[in-house]
Amino acid sequence: MNDFLWVEKYRPKVVDDCILPEIVKNVFKGFVSQGEIPNLLLTGSAGVGKTTIAKALCEEIGASYIMINGSDEGRFLDTVRNRIRTFASTVSLTSGASHKVVIIDEADNTTNDVQLSLRAAVEEFHSNCRFIFTCNFINKIIEPLHSRCTVVDFRVKNGQSVALQGQFFERLRTILKTENAKFEDKVLAKLIKRYYPDWRRLINECQRYSANGAIDSAILVDVADVNLDSLLSSLKQKDFKTVKGWVVQHMDNDPSMVMRKIYDNLYDVLKPNSIPEAVLVIAKYMRDISNVPDQEINMLACLTEIMMTCEFK
Ligand SMILES: Nc1ncnc2c1ncn2[C@@H]1O[C@H](COP(=O)(O)OP(=O)(O)OP(=O)(O)O)[C@@H](O)[C@H]1O
Ligand SMILES: [Mg+2]
Repeated sequence: MNDFLWVEKYRPKVVDDCILPEIVKNVFKGFVSQGEIPNLLLTGSAGVGKTTIAKALCEEIGASYIMINGSDEGRFLDTVRNRIRTFASTVSLTSGASHKVVIIDEADNTTNDVQLSLRAAVEEFHSNCRFIFTCNFINKIIEPLHSRCTVVDFRVKNGQSVALQGQFFERLRTILKTENAKFEDKVLAKLIKRYYPDWRRLINECQRYSANGAIDSAILVDVADVNLDSLLSSLKQKDFKTVKGWVVQHMDNDPSMVMRKIYDNLYDVLKPNSIPEAVLVIAKYMRDISNVPDQEINMLACLTEIMMTCEFK
């Protein structure tokens, strides 16, 4: 067991300990109380608990499971099918386990061929095997797999994020106290706001800061929230160089979150007749986030197009 990393040490073991929107959590609790799961496709951004839930579900319903990582094995078509076949055809040792489960983690990193072969596997082994796929980008999963799975989206709908951040605040305080780390509540709150909804990143940053001392106001210069003021004024002045610098500085953030923030702020700075154009531009580049090989270039292209086509107040 890797107990050095807090993210692993404090990975929730049961569904109930996961911090999730209520509707999402209730879906999983329902499976646990039935003692059975359908084929599942779990989708959501990084560090929100997809892999954690996949494991917790198997543990709680007492299913034996194997985990295949799409990023490692995606290219080895034969390995995947063979591993699943071997696993599915051996007798389960866990008494009372109604099913075996194959977790295909990061399924969106597999090729179409592998996904087609997985589709065949889902059918071939349906009598004693369930599948849980996890992915960041659902549009990279082929339609025949969607339609064979119950899709659970981990995205937080507006209005629930404050409650979830509050719950995570308590959880983080417990972790930090257990680790004897020094921290200030108000700095924790800032960190949560900064890294939400990537809980993995949040816990990792806390571990890093406390290894270097304390989580106190001294670290706040590092965690300034995404500040759009300088970006918006550079866009207005068509100052490409500064815009580019801003993008480079902010690329450790989730690009869709950054685009959303830009969208939210445009209404204040653009002339009203330019807003529809800006909305179309942002929508276009947001759609591309799941496909582009380089997020920095995509973000810069988006801002450049806004800079060239929109009129500022
Ligand atoms: N909902 C959650 N509640 C509590 N802790 C969480 C939650 N989500 C993530 N964590 C913490 O973050 C770590 C990483 O989570 P996990 O591996 O489940 O993320 P993921 O959604 O699979 O991300 P990725 O898309 O990058 O694979 C967990 O070990 C746990 O410590
Ligand atoms: Mg994962």
